[in-house]
Amino acid sequence: LRATWLSRITDASDEAALEDTRVAALGKKGEVSLKMRELGKMSPEERQTAGPALNALKNELNSALIARKAALADAALEERLKTEWMDVSAAPRPAQSGTLHPISQVSEEVIAIFADLGYTVSEGPQIETDWYNFDALNIPGHHPARAEMDTFYMKRGEGDNRPPHVLRTHTSPVQIRAMQEHGAPIRTICPGRVYRADYDQTHTPMFHQVEGLAIDRDISMANLKWTLEEFCRAFFEVDGVELRFRASHFPFTEPSAEVDIRCSWAGGQLKIGEGDDWLEILGSGMVHPKVLEAGGIDPDQWQGFAFGMGIDRIAMLKYGIPDLRAFFDSDLRWLRHYGFAA
Ligand code: PHE
Repeated sequence: LRATWLSRITDASDEAALEDTRVAALGKKGEVSLKMRELGKMSPEERQTAGPALNALKNELNSALIARKAALADAALEERLKTEWMDVSAAPRPAQSGTLHPISQVSEEVIAIFADLGYTVSEGPQIETDWYNFDALNIPGHHPARAEMDTFYMKRGEGDNRPPHVLRTHTSPVQIRAMQEHGAPIRTICPGRVYRADYDQTHTPMFHQVEGLAIDRDISMANLKWTLEEFCRAFFEVDGVELRFRASHFPFTEPSAEVDIRCSWAGGQLKIGEGDDWLEILGSGMVHPKVLEAGGIDPDQWQGFAFGMGIDRIAMLKYGIPDLRAFFDSDLRWLRHYGFAA
């Protein structure tokens, strides 16, 4: 009896089998328990030897059960440690982290360069009133410039005859807002989104401009020229940067100039600061007296220059990007190719 049960206990392969064995031996109807119940029917002599023997067996089986249970638990733990093993020295998986959009990166660069020149940053709404976007900038209702701008108009309610709001077509309305808010003197830039109904390789209906405005007692075109050259040197990181001021016309500046930058397209590769090609990068001029007045500044006391530059445009030039539309596709492969994403 002893040998059978002891071997059944050591042979139990898991905790469930071990429990079955315990019940079969020591449970209420277990073989050993039944034997102990039979003691009552024995003669006193028989009982005297069988009693202690059965008790000893019961104790021995109990100890064997406990030992086997511990051994099985150890083995199970050993097995788990083998499969749930973790290599704490393994190299971590590369973390996917986002980056700023290239246009945001370039805007930050522009803001940093002008901050060094003492310029603050001003902002205005993208949904603008007709007055700020046009009238205050010396573009009255009948002016052809309104039609040329491919303006997006917001719808007015039924029976509302006021002029519709527009999606601002340039950042110039922020000039007026900055003048009204801070008065003169002022040095500020206004980066932001602008909108025109236009779409091809170099035009998207939403794009970005940065406006510059400097107003003081003796501001002249010479200050404008120096400021833009200084900016281009810092932004394009070329010392010999050369700008060409071309007489032009804007209703809000007088005189006005469009500015081109010297570059070369040798071998389809754009290089800034050398070569015989010129690329237009911005519009500029001396702030028109009517515009100063609209901003609440006395044109007899103050003069200023202003310029408006396409942020997307200068980003394309700096990074050699041929298609503007790619900026707004959010294609990770494209962003990585130009080093804008990890
Ligand atoms: N607002 C003009 C444009 O969008 C650019 C400009 C700004 C020109 C300031 C002169 C002065 O084309």
